[in-house]
Amino acid sequence: MVQVPVRVQSAIEMIQQNFTGKDIVSFDQFTTEDLAILFDVTQRMKYIAERKMPSRLLDGLLVSLLFFEPSSRTFSSFAAAVKRLGGQTIEMQNPEQASSLSKGESFADTIRTLEAYSDALVMRHRIPGAAREAALVAESMPIINAGDGNNEHPTQTLLDMYTLYDRFGRLDNLVGMLAGDALNSRTIHSLIKGLSLYKNNTIYVLSPECLRLTRDDVVNFSDRGIRLIEIQRAEDIPTHCDFWYWTRVQRERFGSPAEYQKAQQEIVVATPQLLNTYAKKDMILMDPLPRVDSVDPAVDADERAVYLRSQIRNGLYTRMALLALVFGRAA
Ligand code: NCD
Repeated sequence: MVQVPVRVQSAIEMIQQNFTGKDIVSFDQFTTEDLAILFDVTQRMKYIAERKMPSRLLDGLLVSLLFFEPSSRTFSSFAAAVKRLGGQTIEMQNPEQASSLSKGESFADTIRTLEAYSDALVMRHRIPGAAREAALVAESMPIINAGDGNNEHPTQTLLDMYTLYDRFGRLDNLVGMLAGDALNSRTIHSLIKGLSLYKNNTIYVLSPECLRLTRDDVVNFSDRGIRLIEIQRAEDIPTHCDFWYWTRVQRERFGSPAEYQKAQQEIVVATPQLLNTYAKKDMILMDPLPRVDSVDPAVDADERAVYLRSQIRNGLYTRMALLALVFGRAA
């Protein structure tokens, strides 16, 4: 029998301006006050990282990185964040092949094992809700969701929102367009939740019929007060957006290669021509990456394309800030 741990009740607490010891599994836990705190610490982390200043902020702390799905940026920026702050990591990628899970060990026992050796766990998993599940199992170790299936990716949203804040000096009164796989993109789902926290944001969602948000998601997000406008064709793109946020078709969520190919053929690709026609001079083009047949590399030279510039770097700074706060060492 699986023993339900004592911590169950508190596993998905609101942050309430106190990150210490909290699990970070969903953007539902955040308020604007929490983001203000995190952005403040992020500025300091940026200062440390840009100057390569030695930091002992996470001295003596060990963070496990357990990634059931592939990752380049999230994995390496978390590893870099821990190490830039003087902490250490246990790194497990592909644990279904490389750990005792391959011998039939349970998910819960894997989490308990890492809890015995480390002080926090950053986890990516293909199953929606897996981070929440891990948070229920772990009694003393905070769990940070690095992406759970097509559900959420809260730390990506922290860096996305910081990128917007850094560029525009505000997170309200923005007009944005989220393009691509709205159905499956966990980064889109968390970002809409994040932008809903602020007043008067309008979000266009550009996706083909087969990749639209679920009707439940539309109702759930709209209930938060954000203005969501779904569009399907390039010709419908408004010309007054402050930002575009492109995503790839999430190939790993499709039942068959044929279904993926079909969806891929229907999406709008970001090209220099699309920017020239529909984008403001002072907007920014974001992408959580990887871009796979979604953003034409010819766009990279455009100063408005920030995905390989500030956005990617902000992943490091915001994750340093989050870890410092979760460990209560940011003060
Ligand atoms: C995203 C993800 O894993 O959801 N990548 C990331 O973490 N930057 C986006 C994607 O895979 O398309």
